Amino acid sequence: MELTAVVTGAARGIGRDVVTRLVTAGYRVVAVDISPTVADLADEGRVLPLTADVAADGTPGAAVGRAVAEFGRLDLLVNNAARFLRRPILETSDEDFDALFAVNVRPAFRITRAALPHLTETGGCVVNVASISGLVGIANQSVYAMTKGAIVQLTRQLAIEYARRGVRVNAVAPGAVDTEFMAEARAADPDPAASLAVTLGNHPIGRMSTPDEVARAVVFLASPESGGITGTILSVDGGYVAR
Ligand SMILES: NC(=O)c1ccc[n+]([C@@H]2O[C@H](COP(=O)([O-])OP(=O)(O)OC[C@H]3O[C@@H](n4cnc5c(N)ncnc54)[C@H](O)[C@@H]3O)[C@@H](O)[C@H]2O)c1
Repeated sequence: MELTAVVTGAARGIGRDVVTRLVTAGYRVVAVDISPTVADLADEGRVLPLTADVAADGTPGAAVGRAVAEFGRLDLLVNNAARFLRRPILETSDEDFDALFAVNVRPAFRITRAALPHLTETGGCVVNVASISGLVGIANQSVYAMTKGAIVQLTRQLAIEYARRGVRVNAVAPGAVDTEFMAEARAADPDPAASLAVTLGNHPIGRMSTPDEVARAVVFLASPESGGITGTILSVDGGYVAR
């Protein structure tokens, strides 16, 4: 029996490494991303790329439907796609708020809702990619932090709701991870070098995590090795929230 996963935000960064790790672990994956570069992941019978905006109405049905139609089952959903916004609240518009919730929160709710009937059949898992920003206060991230707080609570809520139906729901909460997401945020700062120094200084291990370190935590939370774990937010943050 081959396990099957849907991973959102799969074209680069953490999502891409999640796909790689899942394939190594024997999964077949529907890899969803708004970027057409997700097509680079195509791997006959192993990775089916789906170029789609997670916020689009038809994406939950298309992503889950593709996994079930092509692979016959669904064992894992990884809600990873998100956008970052570092902005003081007084400079944050209503449009910023709506746009970030439309990508970071609503699709996780809608895709999870589409996946749960199939995950109930297989005794599958949901792994959400949250953030330390959903666990502790970090200046100038109000709306991004709110979206990640929502992902944390979606995780806990569904873990309880589905515990007796055999579906485990967990999240990883990365600190700073060395991806283009962080690099782009830094490049927008007035002093990117100073911004990097602050980021590294805030992480007790003195470096960013790698996307693969986050991906390995995701695969662990999807595996039988974490069979007793549900409703957990696993920090992969080099000690950030332990300070
Ligand atoms: N990089 C970090 O420091 C960090 C820290 C904490 C949490 N995270 C979280 O990790 C996850 C992945 O982050 P990353 O660093 O790999 O980011 P990234 O920007 O490198 O990759 C995100 C991917 O999501 C895709 N995406 C964005 N909007 C989309 C949409 N509407 N529909 C479909 N795909 C979309 C992008 O095209 C991209 O391929 C996100 O949930 C992010 O909030 C990242």
